[in-house]
Amino acid sequence: TEAITVGDLAKRMGVKAAEVVGRMMKMGMMVTLNQSLDTDDAGIVASEFGFEIERVGFEEEGLLAAHEDSPEEMETRPPVVTIMGHVDHGKTSLLDSIRHADVVSGEAGGITQHIGAYDVHLPNGGQVVFLDTPGHEAFTQMRARGSQVTDVVVLVVAADDGIMEQTKEAISHSKAAGVPIVVAINKIDKPGADPERVRRELSERGLVSESWGGDTITVEVSAKTGQGVEELLEMLQLQSEVLELTANPNKPARGHVLEARLDKGRGPVGTVLVQEGTLKAGDSFVCGTFAGKVRSMLDDRGKPVDLAGPSIPVEVQGFGGVPEAGDEFSVVDSEKVARQIADHRAMKKREAELSAKTKTSLEGFFEKM
Ligand code: GTP
Ligand code: MG
Repeated sequence: TEAITVGDLAKRMGVKAAEVVGRMMKMGMMVTLNQSLDTDDAGIVASEFGFEIERVGFEEEGLLAAHEDSPEEMETRPPVVTIMGHVDHGKTSLLDSIRHADVVSGEAGGITQHIGAYDVHLPNGGQVVFLDTPGHEAFTQMRARGSQVTDVVVLVVAADDGIMEQTKEAISHSKAAGVPIVVAINKIDKPGADPERVRRELSERGLVSESWGGDTITVEVSAKTGQGVEELLEMLQLQSEVLELTANPNKPARGHVLEARLDKGRGPVGTVLVQEGTLKAGDSFVCGTFAGKVRSMLDDRGKPVDLAGPSIPVEVQGFGGVPEAGDEFSVVDSEKVARQIADHRAMKKREAELSAKTKTSLEGFFEKM
């Protein structure tokens, strides 16, 4: 897509093809009419005739590994679940409680939070990936850009408090994104717990509980005592079976950045949720306006890994700069391609910023008149 033939270049410049070939020979380039020139060479030749090459039609889609997945390439992947809810309703406590059900971290003894995502292995062999609330920002960002990382939302509602402001926000976010909601009615152990009131308030917002004849799954839980947590996990597995979540693990990885930061010792690092393909150590990638190469990957427990398949969150080291939460992450063929795409995006971004600036200053100008 980046190449142009000598003949075409001549035509575009309105110059005789023989003249172009002749001039190029003088420049030490032996070419034929149908020979393709890359952008750099075409630029040199064009400038000889007083023209400038404009890089229109730079198609990054062609450079990003485009691959049509056939049905037989698709494999089941774990659900990615985001926990949302009003402040203090028990999101963090519930996650802690869920992670106690994790057979892997159970073996390891102490649980250390490493990245804002957890890959939980259940006793029945199932697997569910949870995104902590810091993922909230990325969630909103990505929705604004029309992409999605979450398969299911667990809406935590304290049974003694009911639906509050952030509960409502979470409901409208999830609905707008078309993500199914499973409600965890938490703090059921408390004396003031009134789960029926919560169900009533939910139904007023269009989430009619199954026990009321609707199709919203509600589970009464206590993050404190652990009551109902197993049932909640079963419901999440059930929900994910209904969704038939699949991805092709055998291709270059693509995913999104959940969070990123500049680490003093390791440089820019970002938590990437792989959504399709498999991410490998050494892969070249482009992310937002940055190119990069996977120098190292850590799993949710801070353990180095070489591979990360669909639905798996990993902390990646090797970004060319700190990306933004919600940025798309794509593995490409080579470092060169990664740089080409990143440069192109950076240029586009600068152009957009510049035109936005011009526009606002013009608007300001007209307002003053
Ligand atoms: P933010 O992150 O600040 O929005 O809060 P959160 O939703 O993560 O709530 P968190 O888990 O921090 O819990 C808030 C308070 O409720 C803490 O004091 C918890 O101990 C308490 N709590 C959470 N779950 C339960 C529960 O099931 N029963 C009881 N009795 N207390 C709970
Ligand atoms: Mg919390």
